[in-house]
Amino acid sequence: MFGYGVVGQGLHDVLMESSGFHADIARICVKHHNKKRRIPMRYFTFDKKDILDDPSINLVVELIDDAEEAYKIVRAALTGGKNVVSANKKMVAEHLDELIDLQEEHKTSLLYEGAVCGAIPIIRNLEEYYDNELLFSLRGIFNGSTNYILSKMFNENMDYEEALKNAQKLGFAESDPWLDVSGTDANYKLSIIIEHAYGLYIRPEDIFHVGITNINTQDMQFAREKGYRIKLIPYAGRVGEDGLTGFVLPRFLTQDKKLYTVENEYNGVVVEAAFAEKQFFYGKGAGGHPTGSAVLSDISANSFFYAYEYKKRKQKLGLSFTSDVTLEIYFRYRDKKDAGLLDFDEVTESYAGPDYNYIIGRISLQELAGKKKEILEREVSIINTGLKPEKRVS
Ligand SMILES: NC(=O)c1ccc[n+]([C@@H]2O[C@H](COP(=O)([O-])OP(=O)(O)OC[C@H]3O[C@@H](n4cnc5c(N)ncnc54)[C@H](OP(=O)(O)O)[C@@H]3O)[C@@H](O)[C@H]2O)c1
Repeated sequence: MFGYGVVGQGLHDVLMESSGFHADIARICVKHHNKKRRIPMRYFTFDKKDILDDPSINLVVELIDDAEEAYKIVRAALTGGKNVVSANKKMVAEHLDELIDLQEEHKTSLLYEGAVCGAIPIIRNLEEYYDNELLFSLRGIFNGSTNYILSKMFNENMDYEEALKNAQKLGFAESDPWLDVSGTDANYKLSIIIEHAYGLYIRPEDIFHVGITNINTQDMQFAREKGYRIKLIPYAGRVGEDGLTGFVLPRFLTQDKKLYTVENEYNGVVVEAAFAEKQFFYGKGAGGHPTGSAVLSDISANSFFYAYEYKKRKQKLGLSFTSDVTLEIYFRYRDKKDAGLLDFDEVTESYAGPDYNYIIGRISLQELAGKKKEILEREVSIINTGLKPEKRVS
């Protein structure tokens, strides 16, 4: 095992309590020499070679918080003939194409259920249950910290800064929350999901994502008055004949939507399929024990020689990823000079007040992507209204 932090210790607890499955942890590699550990020091090493070069170890469980180092460890393990279980979404999302090739070349396996939505078994379901399904779309709440912050802002009328501090105090957000609040963490997970749902590897930086940093109390008030909630929603879905689009954006949800009910640190995933129709997964997306349980499930699956087959990739669905689509968005701005910041294809509603203005209309995803820097820097917000993305007709 690499790492003995929140997830590493969580896994250890889950493993100790598991009645059905038994595994011996041979060694645990950690980083800091002087940290107090809850189990005897003889289990620990600070040298990764003690694990990677030990021929008696047949499985590496990678649970460290450094994605670059994790990549080196996972690469070395897979090339050296060891199977790997990881919960590192950044590492998996950034290197998935290569990691798939490495598994094939070295006849080794990499499982990473814990990397996407904690205890919700979405990857295994995409691989095994929806393997022959035509999937129209997948969306969800993939990040517990941002969902907790948005829930607090909505239900307790907190502003963003206060809700963030609250989340940090309770351990639902990191001291450096950027990966979560910028939508980057949700984006990594979306990139991994797209591979398993559609067989395409889309690099995280090629998926448009905006997080929750610009959402303010006026946006919350607008949502409240309309009976909506605001959630950060990653989306991937089919457009046109052979197109696939994807993005991460805050979105309004009406009360009849399953994701409306997903509050605080919980996660949810909605799968829309041609034959199975709409299905909803709900559960804890993070935390030592929930994530540890997903990791244990992968360890157990590995003992039965389970490996992802990347079935959708092999089916060669002929899809191409596109941002040539339009979305309907709510664009809120304070300063009148920002009124023309975004070039809408069509405006359906607008409001102008002394310090609160908004425009609702259809806009191309490419236009949003081109203005991302300005959107983030100015006193404005964008929220997807949830209308289905449409292929752009120019
Ligand atoms: N926390 C969650 O709820 C959650 C949920 C899903 C996925 N994940 C993912 O799981 C992974 C672990 O997260 P975490 O929250 O458990 O992190 P964490 O509590 O910060 O623990 C990180 C662990 O990694 C060890 N470490 C860091 N760099 C290392 C290196 N170069 N070599 C060996 N050990 C190293 C640390 O060693 P020391 O003990 O010596 O500091 C520590 O034990 C991350 O990829 C994270 O994204 C976390």
